[in-house]
Amino acid sequence: MRKLTYFVACSLDGFIGDPDGDATAMMSFLDEEFLDYLRTEVPDTLPTAARRAFGIDDRPNERFDTVVQGRGSYEVGLEEGITSPYAHLRQYVASRTLGVSPDPDVEIVADDVVGRVRALKAEEGALGIYLCGGSRLAGELLGEVDELVIKTYPLVYGRGMPMFGTSGVDATAFALDGVRAFGNGVLVRTYRRKR
Ligand SMILES: NC(=O)c1ccc[n+]([C@@H]2O[C@H](COP(=O)([O-])OP(=O)(O)OC[C@H]3O[C@@H](n4cnc5c(N)ncnc54)[C@H](OP(=O)(O)O)[C@@H]3O)[C@@H](O)[C@H]2O)c1
Repeated sequence: MRKLTYFVACSLDGFIGDPDGDATAMMSFLDEEFLDYLRTEVPDTLPTAARRAFGIDDRPNERFDTVVQGRGSYEVGLEEGITSPYAHLRQYVASRTLGVSPDPDVEIVADDVVGRVRALKAEEGALGIYLCGGSRLAGELLGEVDELVIKTYPLVYGRGMPMFGTSGVDATAFALDGVRAFGNGVLVRTYRRKR
């Protein structure tokens, strides 16, 4: 069974961005050491534009071969004219309103997102599925999340967009697999779901 990993950046108080989801304030912590971590250890999670800037555009995938995101997250790039934000991955966007995909490399999932994710998890393959976000889709998919990788930035938003944004989320236990601390104050914690 392939894993679904919610790989997400958040504040000390657990928000993935301000109330509109804007996480720009986290960018100020991107120093050389942390950029090196992103570039060398988790390049599959970087959007195409960042991979290009790092010169690792065509680096083979090591951890993920598929990305799932909600329309809200996809639209952040779409507003800048980016129709295929993770060109190195198979891309699925959950949306009941987008209709036709703006890009042949992006598949829109309008019905039964949970069932579609289960089918992706059941496929053969060594690489996993990257749940990019955002908040609402992650809330819908919490029951399918096998792993959490949380990049916690030393920042308090006070109010903002929660990591899991659906009202019906059940308390769900995870076990800690590892913690990395960086000089910029960011902690990267990895948790596996307790089954
Ligand atoms: N900090 C981070 O690491 C991080 C990561 C990713 C995103 N973000 C931020 O998160 C924000 C977006 O989050 P969000 O919660 O507003 O939006 P989202 O979860 O990305 O997308 C929500 C949309 O996904 C679709 N959707 C959700 N569940 C569905 C289902 N069961 N079936 C079909 N479609 C479904 C719906 O689209 P339709 O309305 O079209 O039906 C819904 O409006 C952005 O601002 C982004 O910057 C932050």
